[in-house]
Amino acid sequence: MQKLIVANWKMNPASLKEAVHLAKACDKTEVVIAPPFVFLEAVSRVLKKASLGAQDVFWNGDGPWTGEISLRQLKGLRAKYVIIGHSERRKLGETDEVIAKKVTAALKSGLTVMLCVGENWDVRKEGKKAAYDFVRRQIVKDLAVLKKLKIGKFKKLIVAYEPVWAIGTGKNDDPADAALMAGFIKETLAADLAAIGSRVLYGGSVTGRNARGFLTLPEVDGVLVGGASLNPAEFKKIVAAGQ
Ligand code: 13P
Repeated sequence: MQKLIVANWKMNPASLKEAVHLAKACDKTEVVIAPPFVFLEAVSRVLKKASLGAQDVFWNGDGPWTGEISLRQLKGLRAKYVIIGHSERRKLGETDEVIAKKVTAALKSGLTVMLCVGENWDVRKEGKKAAYDFVRRQIVKDLAVLKKLKIGKFKKLIVAYEPVWAIGTGKNDDPADAALMAGFIKETLAADLAAIGSRVLYGGSVTGRNARGFLTLPEVDGVLVGGASLNPAEFKKIVAAGQ
């Protein structure tokens, strides 16, 4: 299966013009582009090959929720994917309870969910067992709904392993360790939640130089890219590494 390359632009770029330019330059198959909400519509109009993703969503339906964005609004813009539970949102106070509500609502709506999990350095420095335990706890709390959904839904779930200490630091995880974690996540989904068939991505300081190390591993089904997705030349190298 071809690997999935996801561009998480986070709160970039600064202008609509730059966003359209970047989207055109990165428009490839097996790519998902997740721009800020304010650029979703413009990016949606220019993408011909890549799919559109959002960086977050609200769990409740239409109504009086100031500042939030609904699933119906995202689907209306032809978004197919939504990132949920990114560590940068968890740092701002998003809890596992809220994340579980968002995952449940998004899966029910038919969007493909990319749930982000991963330990911070305080956990990782205790050792790999501590990291596995931490990630397993996040998965079980955030994805409790899977037990109730039909097997067919799980292809619409992607788990992105993003160790917090590797995000934006230039210190990527060792690909062999990321592969072991990806395998562990798949085992956990199957054993604890009876969920099979979900893809697992790696994210955290992926660049054109190190992407191949992750994308040639059978356990890793793709990468979630932050900083390097803002540079078209760099992003093209990552896409090429996945083919
Ligand atoms: P960086 O690629 O900038 O480390 O960010 C990773 C990330 O958080 C993607 O969601």
